[in-house]
Amino acid sequence: MLDLSGDAYVWLKALHIVSVIAWMAGLLYLPRLFVYHTDCEKGSVQSETFKVMERRLLYAIMYPAMIASFGFGLPLLLDQSPSSWSEGWLHVKLAGVGGLVICHMMMGELRKAFAEDRNVHSQKYFRILNEVPTVLMIAIVIFVVVKPF
Ligand code: HEM
Repeated sequence: MLDLSGDAYVWLKALHIVSVIAWMAGLLYLPRLFVYHTDCEKGSVQSETFKVMERRLLYAIMYPAMIASFGFGLPLLLDQSPSSWSEGWLHVKLAGVGGLVICHMMMGELRKAFAEDRNVHSQKYFRILNEVPTVLMIAIVIFVVVKPF
């Protein structure tokens, strides 16, 4: 579909990797903030501070980084040979990316609940949520670099 030059391809890939690192940093840090936020008294100075941190992390880092990950990743995808589209590594990778987008959207809803002082989840729930993007990231990187099948 796309026929990128070698230079364009490696520059896009470098910017793609930078973007996914920033996106992953947010996906791993936001649930951590939620873990500590559950311990705070509603309306307390600490709780209000967490609300500001969570909002800024989501809108100033995670959304721009997610959009950039797609912005640099999609041309790479469109440059793949037709045979790559039937390869398992790409299917597993894109399924993993779908999982990360679902985590991102869930965290947006959870952040809104905290902002409106109506969180119902426990610390344990957020500790488990914290592991999901970790596992997805490990699988994505192994499949896109090693391409086992
Ligand atoms: C957001 C949607 C994404 C799309 C459309 C996408 C697509 C791609 C494509 C087509 C490549 C080139 C593969 C190659 O040249 O061998 C690539 C490379 C890569 N992607 Fe993504 N990706 C996305 C998200 C991610 C995420 C979330 C991660 C990590 C958590 C990731 C990690 C990587 C890495 C490490 C490479 C370099 C692989 C290599 O050079 O061997 N990507 N991506």
